[in-house]
Amino acid sequence: MNTAKIWRQSMGDMQIFSGSRYRPPTKKPMLIVVLVSFVIMFVVTCAYLYRPRNRTVCNMFSTRKCKDIADWLPPVPVRDYTDDEIAAQVVFRDILNTPVVMPTNPKIAFMFLTPGSLPFEKLWDNFFQGHEGKFSIYVHASQTKPVHASRYFVNRDIHSGKVVWGKISMVDAERRLLANALQDPHNQHFVLLSDSCVPLYNFDYIFDYLMYTNISFVDCFRDPGPVGNGRYSERMLPEVEIKDFRKGAQWFSMKRQHAIMVMADHLYYSIFQAHCEPGVDGKNCIADEHYLPTFFSIVDPGGIANWSITHVDWSEQKWHPKSYVTQDITFDLLNTITSIDESVHVTSDEKKEVLRWPCLWNGIQKPCYLFARKFTPETEDSLLKLLSNYSSS
Ligand SMILES: *[C@@H]1O[C@H](CO)[C@@H](O)[C@H](O)[C@H]1NC(C)=O
Ligand SMILES: *[C@@H]1O[C@H](CO)[C@@H](O)[C@H](O)[C@H]1NC(C)=O
Ligand SMILES: *[C@@H]1O[C@H](CO)[C@@H](O)[C@H](O)[C@H]1NC(C)=O
Repeated sequence: MNTAKIWRQSMGDMQIFSGSRYRPPTKKPMLIVVLVSFVIMFVVTCAYLYRPRNRTVCNMFSTRKCKDIADWLPPVPVRDYTDDEIAAQVVFRDILNTPVVMPTNPKIAFMFLTPGSLPFEKLWDNFFQGHEGKFSIYVHASQTKPVHASRYFVNRDIHSGKVVWGKISMVDAERRLLANALQDPHNQHFVLLSDSCVPLYNFDYIFDYLMYTNISFVDCFRDPGPVGNGRYSERMLPEVEIKDFRKGAQWFSMKRQHAIMVMADHLYYSIFQAHCEPGVDGKNCIADEHYLPTFFSIVDPGGIANWSITHVDWSEQKWHPKSYVTQDITFDLLNTITSIDESVHVTSDEKKEVLRWPCLWNGIQKPCYLFARKFTPETEDSLLKLLSNYSSS
């Protein structure tokens, strides 16, 4: 109900009175109707204009009456959305509301983001063997053309571009991989992997884990500290507010709907493109750590798990995560990683708050990690021995 409608109604009432053959005996009732209409209009207008930032109108009534008025009026938006935001919301909502039709033989797209040759191709070859038709591979090699050791990887290189860590070119490479993988309608889930990544389970376990859930595994948390919100810029306003700014590791796994949404997004992408350039004053934001977590927390917060299925060890608290060498490759190491069923995030402010969430898969607490990094190339033989034994159990 708005004032214009009430105005039209009272005008209508007047026409009924004056236009009908019925003539009121005196003009008083009409006058009362008009007066009452104006009083209602006035109250409604005031209540609408002064709610909720200023509650003076409410103070004129009892709290209950005030609440009644508040319930009756349309909610006041926090701010006016821009044309681009409204257009984006329509597109994203439509993608999310379109029922998913699973192809009879769905596949998982394994997308490798690497500078050159993949050191663990032999290991991946073992992993994929016997599962033909249930996976497809895409390799984005940003520096040198890879030499492939596995038949599964031959002719799977996509057109690639230069990638600089932290810059938007990293996100561009991710989008390129998604665009290529989306061309195959059988691909239903899209996993981003690095050259230093290895699988922790056999193919079937990983396939079922990803395929039989309707969420994407995108790492996402709110970090009020310097390497979280400290990288936010007010130049991202109005579309990206600080309350929506998120951080997360780049190694995602996402369902097809979400991959399509990433392709469809121009609005948020262009904001991060314009404002994330590490090393440039006032633009010190890391595109690949903030764009996707922030994007999904705005457009579909309930649709992401908030943790990454790729394990990495930051416990040394250095600039880079721990790199495993041959001596580290033990049954215990794999056992430790695959036993983790709680995701942990630590904020970068003085409080160093530790955020722990159980890793819930369709409501059941499960191991969080399907892949792990970073393994140095010389660990391949040890990993081959250990994993073939480990993942078959
Ligand atoms: C996932 O599926 C469950 C039921 O199967 C449903 O309750 C939930 O809303 C779905 N979540 C998303 C993000 O679609
Ligand atoms: C992920 O976090 C958001 C809050 O940022 C929350 O709304 C959402 O429910 C979480 N996802 C799951 C699967 O719990
Ligand atoms: C395989 O794992 C079992 C324990 O599960 C161990 O006893 C055996 O020695 C392992 N074999 C190899 C070749 O590592």
